[in-house]
Amino acid sequence: MTIGIVGLGYVGLPLAVAFAEAGHEVIGVEVEQQRVAAVNQGSSHVEDVPSKRLRGVEDRLVATTAYSELERAEAILVCVPTPLSANREPELGPLVEGASALAKVLVPGQLVVLESTTYPGTTRERLRPILEESGLAAGRDFHLAFSPERVDPGRTDHTMRSTPKVVGGLTQACGDRAEALYRNICDEVVRVSTPEVAELSKLLENIFRSVNIALVNELAVLADRMHIDIWEVIDAAATKPFGFMRFDPGPGMGGHCLPVDPFYLSWRAREYDFVPEFIELAGKMNQAMPYVCVERIVRALNDAGKSVRGSRIALLGVAYKPGVGDTRESPALKILELLRDHGAEIVYHDPHVHELPQFELSGTDLDAALDGADLAVIVTAHPDLDLERVVREAPLVVDLRGVTRGIDAPSVVRL
Ligand SMILES: NC(=O)c1ccc[n+]([C@@H]2O[C@H](COP(=O)([O-])OP(=O)(O)OC[C@H]3O[C@@H](n4cnc5c(N)ncnc54)[C@H](O)[C@@H]3O)[C@@H](O)[C@H]2O)c1
Repeated sequence: MTIGIVGLGYVGLPLAVAFAEAGHEVIGVEVEQQRVAAVNQGSSHVEDVPSKRLRGVEDRLVATTAYSELERAEAILVCVPTPLSANREPELGPLVEGASALAKVLVPGQLVVLESTTYPGTTRERLRPILEESGLAAGRDFHLAFSPERVDPGRTDHTMRSTPKVVGGLTQACGDRAEALYRNICDEVVRVSTPEVAELSKLLENIFRSVNIALVNELAVLADRMHIDIWEVIDAAATKPFGFMRFDPGPGMGGHCLPVDPFYLSWRAREYDFVPEFIELAGKMNQAMPYVCVERIVRALNDAGKSVRGSRIALLGVAYKPGVGDTRESPALKILELLRDHGAEIVYHDPHVHELPQFELSGTDLDAALDGADLAVIVTAHPDLDLERVVREAPLVVDLRGVTRGIDAPSVVRL
């Protein structure tokens, strides 16, 4: 088969490589010229796809800015971004642009699948009419489905092949076609009756995480006031073999998904005179966490007889999660901004993030970060961080991830 992938980012590039590795020809359409050039030179910008893997499929994967190349694809998977606008409403600009360009080259018999996370109704009400501007009818002349991407950057225990893929077609035939396609790269395909079910299932997964993280963050703030160690509480609760799922507190949510996707649903819910309060409440609690963390840092310095102003603070990890270099919506950025506002001098160490241009900061190695620091903050627990050394060398450590449990030192404060 020839497969088209629209958008070669965190979602599109791994998919493109998976289909190419399964022996198919892949055409990746991407608006950013630099990305196109990098992919064609076998240089990957996505950690989960090492450049070596990309080079292994170079004869089957071609990137281009030209939508016209998609004419020869049997199936086209759309993986463009779905961010929020400045006033936190769905920003479907990239999807509308991509769909309009696709409509101009759509040919009868093709399958189009939307993979981008979005509110229920997008595939049927937004994507379908744009594609039908081609003069072709969805369900009759071409097939249309929604299948949410479940990639979790940095995760190695579950792969694209071992993670079940949910598929909802506009018609039975659309679903059959999409199911057959994904069977090439996934062991299990989960059929649902409509695109809307598939769209909402993805949002449920993300909202579930957001709400549970918010709950445990709220308890962490309360436990601190009660002088109870929240980590010990969670460890104890997690021994229950049923009816409990572990979530850990932290500095807040980051990445492209959790801080964004739930608000796609709350926006859509307004049309139904409905306010999904769990979503809003979870968002509020998680957004407050960087402020809670800064307060903890201020307190730790105060207890040591120091003020934030003039202190040198080393932030360890600025990516939004361990093992990746993605800083989108990372709570570390808010913490950095707040500490700078308080007059702290900030240095940071993150082997995955070399520059923070918005702060005019470059990362340093761990030695340079700890050298002369009054306090080190573990914001992101990258797997290669030498915790023993951090605790040994920094006069004060604030651990926002609970990773220093097991190291007994009076200089360590945990969230
Ligand atoms: N990153 C994740 O972990 C993850 C997980 C599951 C779902 N998703 C969802 O998948 C979608 C894509 O996310 P991502 O993280 O891959 O985003 P990304 O920003 O990494 O990649 C999107 C790519 O699409 C390109 N693009 C934008 N408009 C385009 C257009 N009109 N035509 C062609 N290319 C275009 C961008 O230049 C970019 O390279 C989003 O809806 C996101 O919510 C992301």
